[in-house]
Amino acid sequence: MPFQLFGLEGLAPHGTCLLWISELFWTHAASDALISAAYASISISMILVIRKREDALLRRVGAFFAAFILVCGSSHAMDIWTLWFPDYGAQALVKVATATVSVMTAILLWPLMPRILALPSIAQLEAANTALNVEIAERRQAEVRLAAYADELKRSNRNLEQTLSRLDQTRTQLLHSEKMASLGGLVAGIAHEINTPVGNGITVASSLTELVKRFRLRIEGEAIKRSHLETFAADVEEAAGLLSTNLETAAGLVQSFKQVAADQTSSQRRRFDLGETMDEIVATLRPRFKRTSFAIEIGIPPGIVMESYPGPLGQVVTNLVTNSLLHAFEGRERGTMTLTAAMVGGERVTICYGDDGVGIPRELRERVFEPFFTTRQGSGGTGLGLHVVYNIITNVLGGSITLQSAVGEGVKFIIDVPLTAPTLVQSNA
Ligand SMILES: Nc1ncnc2c1ncn2[C@@H]1O[C@H](COP(=O)(O)OP(=O)(O)O)[C@@H](O)[C@H]1O
Ligand SMILES: [Mg+2]
Repeated sequence: MPFQLFGLEGLAPHGTCLLWISELFWTHAASDALISAAYASISISMILVIRKREDALLRRVGAFFAAFILVCGSSHAMDIWTLWFPDYGAQALVKVATATVSVMTAILLWPLMPRILALPSIAQLEAANTALNVEIAERRQAEVRLAAYADELKRSNRNLEQTLSRLDQTRTQLLHSEKMASLGGLVAGIAHEINTPVGNGITVASSLTELVKRFRLRIEGEAIKRSHLETFAADVEEAAGLLSTNLETAAGLVQSFKQVAADQTSSQRRRFDLGETMDEIVATLRPRFKRTSFAIEIGIPPGIVMESYPGPLGQVVTNLVTNSLLHAFEGRERGTMTLTAAMVGGERVTICYGDDGVGIPRELRERVFEPFFTTRQGSGGTGLGLHVVYNIITNVLGGSITLQSAVGEGVKFIIDVPLTAPTLVQSNA
């Protein structure tokens, strides 16, 4: 017999097998109806659920189950149909479809099992969620703490900035007072130097007054002899000579100090002869060591003409000499400072300043130009002298300064500057 599903005559509906016994018949019919309706409902709700899920694995498994339940439902529906109508071929096809989907679902489910088993349970998810919430709370707290730290940092940064600007102000003030101190020293030097000729002048003037008084008494009292007149004339002549010598000395001193003072109070640029200017500067410093056995030897050939800033240059020499007297010769019987200069090529000059004092140890040599570096903290040192020197040489005069020294061998500062100073300079000294 050929394979045949449809067009078969003589088949009886399934109800016939049940002998149309109504309890039996309707129990079957009602149960199958309820099963297929429930299956349809289940598969529809499953489809609705998987449409909401993003997880690809869940979607796949859900879709197979929905299809599986749907075909199961349809085979129950077919059971109802065949109670009345003997379409067993159609029923067989529905069963084939049910079998196919069921077998496919069964086969595909196994390889997916590990992944399905690995899916976290709701309790696990809740635990993970709680842990996450705790972590989020901790992070928030950490963020709050961080923000507090950032605020704190900002505050201390602001404080630091204020401190820095105060420090800068203090530094400027100290530099200013260092300049003032050197000016003060200059004024003291001038006063001391001028004191001698002016004092001499006053003595001579008063003895001249005395001479005149005595002579007048003599005129009034007795007859004047020629010899008296001659003595008087000689005394007056001598006094006048002494007066004019001393006044000339005073005038000469005033003349030479005037230039240095003008240079020191302003950082004026002018043409000058290095040797002459150095002589003038050293003359203002001499009173500081005049009554000691310390000496300064100057060896600068005439004719080194510079177009530069003599005032700041004077301050350099002043600071170097001050340092020798304060640091190098402390507690010594004698000491010699030397100041020499020589042209280098046609455009530069090398100025050497040295002393034969205690010298500077190697480890301090690098630091002496630093602002506030002093070995005499609290006893007259500001630590700004050589810093000012460095600033003037590099920023104002456009040159460089190096230091050679060893303990016990004194110091030697080698200053190299152009004869013509750079014009656009920012003087902060
Ligand atoms: N001629 C020198 N001999 C020995 N030490 C010196 C000499 N000049 C400077 N120094 C050292 O360099 C330091 C810095 O000098 P300076 O900047 O002028 O500051 P201060 O004189 O105020 O100490 C001094 O404290 C001293 O130790
Ligand atoms: Mg000093």
